[in-house]
Amino acid sequence: MTQENTVLKSVDVTRPKRLPRYTSYPTALEFGPIDGKSHDKWLKSLPICEPISLYFHIPYCDKLCWFCGCFTTISNKYGPVEKFLEVLKQEVRQTAKKTGRLKVSHIHFGGGSPSILDPADFRSLIDVLSECYDIDDVPEFAIEIDPRTVDRDKIFAYASSGVNRVSLGIQDFNLKTQEAINRIQTVDLIEKTMRDFKGAGIERVNFDLIYGLPYQSIDTIAETILTTIKFKPSRIALFGYAHVPHMKKHQKLVGEHELPNQKERQAQFNWASKMLTDNGYRAIGLDHFALPDDHLFTSFDQGKLKRNFQGYTDDTANSLIGFGPSAISNLPDGYAQNVPSIRDYIEKVSSNKSSVVRGLSISNKDKMFRDVISTLMCYFEVDPVKITMEHHIHYNFKIEIKNLMKLVEAGYMSRDGNNFKINKKVMPYLRAIATVFDQYFDQNSSDIISRCVHESEG
Ligand SMILES: C[S@@+](CC[C@H](N)C(=O)[O-])C[C@H]1O[C@@H](n2cnc3c(N)ncnc32)[C@H](O)[C@@H]1O
Ligand code: SF4
Repeated sequence: MTQENTVLKSVDVTRPKRLPRYTSYPTALEFGPIDGKSHDKWLKSLPICEPISLYFHIPYCDKLCWFCGCFTTISNKYGPVEKFLEVLKQEVRQTAKKTGRLKVSHIHFGGGSPSILDPADFRSLIDVLSECYDIDDVPEFAIEIDPRTVDRDKIFAYASSGVNRVSLGIQDFNLKTQEAINRIQTVDLIEKTMRDFKGAGIERVNFDLIYGLPYQSIDTIAETILTTIKFKPSRIALFGYAHVPHMKKHQKLVGEHELPNQKERQAQFNWASKMLTDNGYRAIGLDHFALPDDHLFTSFDQGKLKRNFQGYTDDTANSLIGFGPSAISNLPDGYAQNVPSIRDYIEKVSSNKSSVVRGLSISNKDKMFRDVISTLMCYFEVDPVKITMEHHIHYNFKIEIKNLMKLVEAGYMSRDGNNFKINKKVMPYLRAIATVFDQYFDQNSSDIISRCVHESEG
């Protein structure tokens, strides 16, 4: 999945005033203007001995999917992509001058469709990357793929550049739904794509699926899941369709009367989730599923799962540097987001100016709350007192515990000492419950129980 808040999930979206998904804390809603100097200082102070993660945002696609909430541009010609790529390389070089040649533990290409890049162009970007950073034997090197734009040459370029995980945008296998979202891709195409990736030695495959799309029903979702299971992707993301035509004008092309209602959406998710778990997948967090051979599965058991812009991760790096328009860096001292407009991004980087426009510096207290919220979002339970002690912070959680106790009394959570656990039947209220710990959320704006009820109504 793309960096989540470059997508509509950024603004947290399935309906107006959607609660945060807490892919970061503080959330991107709290970002304000920051200048390039603070960001430069944060980059320069990255510890030389710690590995980092890198995120690349490729904001181009061949064809518009009407449901799309990602930050992308449709380009019929390759010229603009080539020009953008040169600027992206410049940004990598400029950043590396500030950070030094650090070791990289995780690379993610998102978008848009990174698979739009020509094989030679992809390789030349990786060459620049390896001049600037140590990318030998990167444990996780992932790329998001639009299956309609990939071929054997590209797949070979990925494999020879060290890519070891691919995320295929599937969405749904039903033709009527595909037609209604302007995204037709056959099962045969996916079969061929899977075969080619396997042939190139890339075996870690994610499928991105969506429920709540036009004409979907429990029956059609069940068929999509059956087909999916046959391909055995090691990881599946099952996203709820975020319909925000006020923000993404092209979504007006998706007929609203064809969309399932909130009750149907929930039933589709529950059905799909049951089919996946009955077939050996483990449900992870809000919307992910993994087979036992996927390291998200083992990391979950080991308590190593974290929340990040891609949703869920077991990436252990403390710092992530984002490249490309709208990309967000998550550094020990704060968050920094690049300008979203491609034109402004090109103008800034080409004239050697900082491309960062928004962000937030984070305090030790923010980091403690980030751990509390991330633990809750990953494991549906948390012992906040234990986490304050790990952070050597004294905080009594008076207001938070009062709200948590309301949830316990309502039967939404159970308490064991200082550990609070969300009951299975109210798991869909997860983000409403997480707001209890959000120090930027106006706790007086609504009662915690009504926040949960509102969340369940969609
Ligand atoms: C950047 S795209 C993946 C790569 C490529 N662009 C593609 O679509 O195949 C990331 C994923 O975001 C999800 N997505 C996009 N728009 C969405 C929306 N409105 N609601 C929910 N998920 C969405 C889709 O599952 C999509 O595969
Ligand atoms: S290919 Fe992916 S990013 Fe591009 S328009 Fe479709 S969903 Fe959006």
